Amino acid sequence: MRDVVHVPLGDRAYDVVIGPGLLAEAGALIAPLLPRPRVAVVTETRVAATHLDALRTGLAAAGIECTVLELPPGEATKSWTHLAQVTEWLLDQKVERRDVVVALGGGVIGDLVGFAAAILRRGVRFVQVPTSLLAQVDSSVGGKTGINTAQGKNLAGAFHQPSLVLADTEVLSTLSRRDFLAGYGEVMKYGLLGDATFWAWLEQNAAAMAAGDMALRMAAVKRSVEMKAEIVTRDETEQGDRALLNLGHTFCHALEAATGYSDRLLHGEGVAIGCSLAFALSARMGLVSQEDPSRVRAHLQEMGMKTDLSDIPGDLPSADQLLVLMGQDKKVVAGKLNFVLARGIGKAFVTDEVAPNMVVDVLKAHGG
Ligand code: GLY
Repeated sequence: MRDVVHVPLGDRAYDVVIGPGLLAEAGALIAPLLPRPRVAVVTETRVAATHLDALRTGLAAAGIECTVLELPPGEATKSWTHLAQVTEWLLDQKVERRDVVVALGGGVIGDLVGFAAAILRRGVRFVQVPTSLLAQVDSSVGGKTGINTAQGKNLAGAFHQPSLVLADTEVLSTLSRRDFLAGYGEVMKYGLLGDATFWAWLEQNAAAMAAGDMALRMAAVKRSVEMKAEIVTRDETEQGDRALLNLGHTFCHALEAATGYSDRLLHGEGVAIGCSLAFALSARMGLVSQEDPSRVRAHLQEMGMKTDLSDIPGDLPSADQLLVLMGQDKKVVAGKLNFVLARGIGKAFVTDEVAPNMVVDVLKAHGG
């Protein structure tokens, strides 16, 4: 049982392979990329405890040796310090220009290792083996790599496409329900931004998918990756349409900053709240009928997800202060906030024509 989504980016084209049991087949899938039977794997300790043996065995089945670096888990690993550590470790392991580096983990590992691969010897190839739902449907595809700096998230990085992505849907069974649903925040975002049929399918099927149905999981990951591949192919370096993928993210980034990028709010949870608020703002601006934001909220609530600021534990800054945090987002262009709004479910568009007082009103109406 396997699906393949091709990302047609010319000489940087690659496949995203989706299905259960891919760790066991990793050797056979990666072997065609290798000039010699050896890879360097970078992962983090929690993922290593659960999945490294399966990957090693899968590589060994095709006669591929691996050398492994395990980093600490968590967002703090996306740092200059760990970038230097990974790069120097890869050099110590004598990784050559034509060798392949493997990133085994969630978005933090994928972004960090992709960036190290982009700068190592001016660019070596890498394979993404995403282990979270969020990484399978979003961060492992599209070539955004990078680290956080003292000034903010993802402020140093490079566009560097992977040579292959192996999205093993069986590993999703090891995620906590909270982590799975946080990843689901990015899945349902694709329906909202560009595919009303997919959104309706999710309304019908997401509960069974979250409960573990493998065929539904594969279908949801596949449709998400197809949509991401299509947008990235149109606009690889985010000059225009790729910004649609930021639906919900202007609100989300302000809420993440307000909660200190902590466990109080996972990124995908912030995306879900952000999408709910983006539809509420679209309704307030007369772009959609009230029915659409109500439908978005109803589905998220049915899934047991957060939709409002009041669902975030602890105190938050005032709505006006949150607006200031949005102004520090990297999507501000010439001092104007960029929002992704909608003219309906599946009909998102990017605009900088949003009155700040309407944003404040929406925040206040949703627990801010
Ligand atoms: N995660 C948004 C993007 O890849 O553009």
